Amino acid sequence: MKIAFCGKGGVGKSTIAALLCKALLDTGYEVLAIDADPSPHLGRLLGFSETEGLTPLSEMRELLAERAQKQGPYYTLNPRIEDLPERFMLTRDGLRLMVLGAIREAGGGCACPEQTVLRRLLSFLILQAREAVVVDMEAGVEHFGRSTVVPMDFILVVTQPYRGSLETTRQILRLARDLNLEKVVVVGNAVRGPEDERYLASFLGVEPVLSFPEDPEILRAEREGRSLLELESPSLERARELLEYLRRHGT
Ligand SMILES: Nc1ncnc2c1ncn2[C@@H]1O[C@H](COP(=O)(O)OP(=O)(O)OP(=O)(O)O)[C@@H](O)[C@H]1O
Ligand SMILES: [Mg+2]
Repeated sequence: MKIAFCGKGGVGKSTIAALLCKALLDTGYEVLAIDADPSPHLGRLLGFSETEGLTPLSEMRELLAERAQKQGPYYTLNPRIEDLPERFMLTRDGLRLMVLGAIREAGGGCACPEQTVLRRLLSFLILQAREAVVVDMEAGVEHFGRSTVVPMDFILVVTQPYRGSLETTRQILRLARDLNLEKVVVVGNAVRGPEDERYLASFLGVEPVLSFPEDPEILRAEREGRSLLELESPSLERARELLEYLRRHGT
């Protein structure tokens, strides 16, 4: 299963991505988590204290080179997660972490090369039965413009019940339709009750597949720099339900 998290800045993409990683690990999946945010946080949420020694994924370019458009892709790697070179990832208990590492210079620079590497990696990886790739995308819609999300099995658009977040979600749903992407679903976050549920659904014209509550334990863990893999809270049950949904609707 290849799963990407998208949505407006600060809506909880990394949080829910980390909670889903936990649900996957608890269910016996091998997980490759990819932090595709140029200002990466996912590693910390997954309890990796040090990501500095990690070679960013963007340097995998030569391994995923394309010989020429017409001749198709030319890879010097095997398409299995376990064959990806060690230097690109941190590994612990069935969990692997990679960072895209698109830290751009102030005042310029386009993320196109990084997005291309990420798209190639996502298309080329062939997953075994109990393997999952979870990608925490950069906020906004750039990866839709670059089609980075095309190889995904699921695109989860994290949405909070306020207008700014909902407008970004609406834009993402429109772009997904333009790209003929099928499995694009909305996940509510920090939803405080039925009124929030109603507002969110009526604004978008679709129901979220499920919603996470506003959870003080999540915020506390983040403030204290604790891993969400150790979180004890009802939000974890939601993450398990989310995984169940994905397994039921997956290919
Ligand atoms: N359900 C929730 N309840 C309480 N706090 C939450 C919840 N979801 C996320 N948060 C908090 O909101 C903040 C932003 O969450 P997070 O970093 O996951 O968002 P993001 O969408 O990944 O942001 P960015 O776009 O900056 O990457 C964090 O402090 C996180 O702990
Ligand atoms: Mg984030």
